[in-house]
Amino acid sequence: MPTYLVGGFVRDLILNRPNKDIDFVCVGSGIELATEVAAALELPPPVVFRNFGTAMLKTGEFELEFVGARKESYRADSRKPWVEDGTLEEDQQRRDFTINAMAISLQAQGFGDLIDPFGGIGHLRKKVIQTPLDPVITFSDDPLRMMRAIRFANQLDFDIEPETFAAIISQAERIRIVSAERVIDELNKIILCPVPSYGFKLLFHSGLLRHFFPELVALHGVEYVDNHAHKDNFFHTLQVLDNVAKVSDDLWLRWAAILHDIAKPATKRFSPQHGWTFHGHEDRGARMVPGIFRRLKLPLNEHMHFVQKLVRLHLRPIALVKKEVTDSAVRRLLFEAGDSVDALMILCRADITSKNHERVGRYLRNFDLVEHKMTEVEEKDRVRNFQPPVTGDEIIRLYNIPPGRIIGDLKDEIKEAILEGVIRNDREEALRFLADIAAKKGLILSSNPYE
Ligand code: CTP
Repeated sequence: MPTYLVGGFVRDLILNRPNKDIDFVCVGSGIELATEVAAALELPPPVVFRNFGTAMLKTGEFELEFVGARKESYRADSRKPWVEDGTLEEDQQRRDFTINAMAISLQAQGFGDLIDPFGGIGHLRKKVIQTPLDPVITFSDDPLRMMRAIRFANQLDFDIEPETFAAIISQAERIRIVSAERVIDELNKIILCPVPSYGFKLLFHSGLLRHFFPELVALHGVEYVDNHAHKDNFFHTLQVLDNVAKVSDDLWLRWAAILHDIAKPATKRFSPQHGWTFHGHEDRGARMVPGIFRRLKLPLNEHMHFVQKLVRLHLRPIALVKKEVTDSAVRRLLFEAGDSVDALMILCRADITSKNHERVGRYLRNFDLVEHKMTEVEEKDRVRNFQPPVTGDEIIRLYNIPPGRIIGDLKDEIKEAILEGVIRNDREEALRFLADIAAKKGLILSSNPYE
């Protein structure tokens, strides 16, 4: 039966980008074709999705997907059963973009010919994203395609053709009917691009962003009082995100960049003495993180806690460099940031976006100093993954007292003494210190604590 390579694999083949998902479309039954191919390649039988008329084979690192050409809209992850067979061209025209609607013939006659009825190859050359049909039709078939347009533009560094973009603007509200899971998949792909601000600007200017991420849109704008303006926190946030993206591929660190100032609108105040302030935006922002994660269907696990921690601590390193750097301030930061301290320093450096180069240079040099100090202090005191040098159980045995609040208080005092530099993070010193503070509380050492 007539069979063709189609979709993203063809696009990436021409662009010389790696792609391990190969889509085949045939004029006939995709399931039959997959079964024959599996037999010919001596592979196990295909995984069949009968409702959708598709079948899948795995060979090595490749995933081969077989589908019969169809008349109705094509969506790789559609849950809608397919209804009507179609011709190759009918199948191509119901795909999302011209660059994703090219096919390569696998027929003996004309093997390798490119079948490109909508000018996809020209659009790859001109670097534009355009729909094969009237964009309003293509987007109404699947509104997620509006986000896909932006995601591809961002990943490939393409423009969106004006009529296609105008249709995104006019249809933006329909993104609301798409499931949060599909939206976040695309958003995360945008966030993982080398210059994610481009995708976010398209999301913003098209009007899509406000439908699923209003908190970020609320950062946009500049307010003046008595000629005092604050910076536009939306564009500032995007610059921080790009700065982070230059040095880290970590999705969650990128999310921390997106959310670091998220509570600025909620905490914004103006006073004649201090101008614009955003007091407490780091704590308030950290408290907003779970709600945003929940709604966007991001995972509510350690990744969320990491983002929360970074949002909460994002001003701390900069506060350190402004003042004289004391050992105890460094110890406290190491203790609170724990294993996230390197990520926190990346975020903090990325957050310096002043137009004043001299000031940026000065801050960054001070950061070097802080980091140097951090290494020194950590080598000496090991507070980054702080383990109490004396455990609660030991205190119970030493003083023969029942478990209770006092145990926690004693442990806290020891921890504070270490962070403040009164004693070193050392078991002997901690035990001596414990003896002192316990005596002050009137506790008496048990005669035989190890009984
Ligand atoms: N497709 C579509 N509309 C969608 C999703 C997919 O028309 N909403 C079509 C496109 O022809 C696309 C193909 O299905 O090329 C495969 O989709 P998918 O695997 O999601 O994307 P790729 O184009 O392969 O790109 P990527 O792997 O980067 O997601």
